[in-house]
Amino acid sequence: MKVLAINGSPRKTGNTSIMIDWALEELNKEGIETEVQQIGGKLVAGCKACGACGKNRDMRCIQKDDPVNEIIAKMAEADGLILGSPVYFADLTPELKALIDRAGFVTMFNGRFLRRKVGAAAVVARRGGQVHTYDSINHFFGINEMFTVGSIYWNMGVAMDPGKVREDGEAEKTMRTLGLNMAWLLKKIHA
Ligand SMILES: Cc1cc2nc3c(=O)[nH]c(=O)nc-3n(C[C@H](O)[C@H](O)[C@H](O)COP(=O)(O)O)c2cc1C
Repeated sequence: MKVLAINGSPRKTGNTSIMIDWALEELNKEGIETEVQQIGGKLVAGCKACGACGKNRDMRCIQKDDPVNEIIAKMAEADGLILGSPVYFADLTPELKALIDRAGFVTMFNGRFLRRKVGAAAVVARRGGQVHTYDSINHFFGINEMFTVGSIYWNMGVAMDPGKVREDGEAEKTMRTLGLNMAWLLKKIHA
């Protein structure tokens, strides 16, 4: 079993990455394979609403000049997804949103391949907007018939400068519990 985490922050090793890693460490301890894909900071175009994915039905977006298709293929293979984002003006980063829009249409036209996978958000902000960002990401899991995994709090951290989320003990506990809950659910689904 494998969980793919996607980091929507342009800071590759910033607070979002730390949040993701806490969950992945617990998944690894439970014997679940993990991988992180970086989307934040990459040049990623939004959905062009061209309808090509609906005509071609080849598991791909027609836009080829960015990493989105490579990540879509990995999303299709994974059993679980963690989508992480820092809060930017009370919402997720545009790179992660572009991936959500394009992957969302590709999956709908290709057998709804995200169906019955498990999903969780990981969000971090200096002060506000975490819950809204968490909700934005969870909409993607819901419409794709995925099972959303919860924890002891919403999966959020409070920090500004890179690395500062390490001082948020509740965020660490939340993300580690999330990893354990995700492992538990994956094992039940794949028993
Ligand atoms: C463009 C931009 C917009 C931001 N908007 C918010 C915001 O709405 N609320 C907030 O509390 N922090 C906001 N922040 C701060 C980041 O969410 C915060 O620094 C976070 O820890 C960054 O995570 P990272 O290290 O993974 O990139 C913003 C930062 C940037 C660069």
